[in-house]
Amino acid sequence: MKVVLAFSSGLDTSVAVRLLQENYKADVITVTVNVGQSPFKLKAAAKKAKLLGAVKHVHIDARKEFIQDYIFPSIKANGLYEGYPLSTALARYPIASKLVDVALREKADAVAHGCTGKGNDQFRFDTTISLKAPKLKIIAPIREFNLDRKQEIGYAKKKGIPVETESSYSIDENLWGRSIEGGVLEDPKKIPPEHIYTWTRPPEKTPQKPRIIEIEFKEGVPIALDGKRMGGVELITEMNRIAGDYGVGRIELIEDRIMGLKARENYEAPAATVLIQAHQTLEQLVLTKEELEFKRQADQKWADLVYRGLWFDPLKEDLDAFINSTQRRVTGKVKVKLDRGSCRAIGRSSPYSLYDEKLVSFEKPGFDQRDAVGIIKFHGIQGKILRKRRMTR
Ligand code: ARG
Repeated sequence: MKVVLAFSSGLDTSVAVRLLQENYKADVITVTVNVGQSPFKLKAAAKKAKLLGAVKHVHIDARKEFIQDYIFPSIKANGLYEGYPLSTALARYPIASKLVDVALREKADAVAHGCTGKGNDQFRFDTTISLKAPKLKIIAPIREFNLDRKQEIGYAKKKGIPVETESSYSIDENLWGRSIEGGVLEDPKKIPPEHIYTWTRPPEKTPQKPRIIEIEFKEGVPIALDGKRMGGVELITEMNRIAGDYGVGRIELIEDRIMGLKARENYEAPAATVLIQAHQTLEQLVLTKEELEFKRQADQKWADLVYRGLWFDPLKEDLDAFINSTQRRVTGKVKVKLDRGSCRAIGRSSPYSLYDEKLVSFEKPGFDQRDAVGIIKFHGIQGKILRKRRMTR
């Protein structure tokens, strides 16, 4: 039996290799998809795959595609679920897609992933795989053997699988963010230890002086940083570095998982935090009140579908069409101030701006103020009528 496994070199997927070999007598092909995790982790994956006896290790650099097809749409949709800038959620789709590609190419009997039966990632993997290749068998060994993390560590030790010191945490990272779960974090009243963070400095150790950066957007997508045009990978990597330096993007939530379980989640998402905020500010300038109101609902639904594994749902495609249409005018520049863990939009401009300085200014006449009186006469008219009726009754 030939099985293609999505492999990160972490505890779950390492244990999965062995379980597949021993219990399914499988030849395991490991696939690591580069969605911007640290290069160190990518190298470790190739080495560990070999050590665990994978018959083949495939490495796919999907960073450009991840940005173009997943991160950019998420910026356009201000992709936040309960305040979490969708990151792990987004990356699962290209990973699952690549996994299917390799499995079909290799004529594999099954694909496998390291998800447990408790989290969200199983929904994203299984749904995408079965949609792309309905006949392909899906094996999730950790879920199937009902293993908890302690049992996994025990099994790994018994089988001579190296276990990293950070293994008490379940960590996932990609260009758009880093998520840390498990270990002491499972007690929601305990304060997260500083060592869980690797992308962001604690606010007290950030530079003394605030920094102002300028981000340029074209049709809803960031294209330049401080006047310098950059490709997506470079721009997001730079933004993560700069904003992380200022301690921006630490997010802690009690999050409602797909299955209804509440989970304590910690994230580092410096670039996502800044770029989504800058994008929202620009939308406020160029979209009408009606568009903004409606889009807020569309964005929320979009994020909800993406979080719940339904990237390929027809409604998500419909929402994309609406969102893309609004983004034709989301072009312009935004200034953002980074200061001790906070990030604030402090300036914006756009050729499509709906802001009319002459009309709104206190210093310029703009229009005849007396015209306002006529409009106000009808303002709240229904309430006035009702009140009058009650008084006369
Ligand atoms: N709660 C986040 C999500 O559902 C992060 C999940 C992290 N996954 C992991 N295997 N550590 O998208």
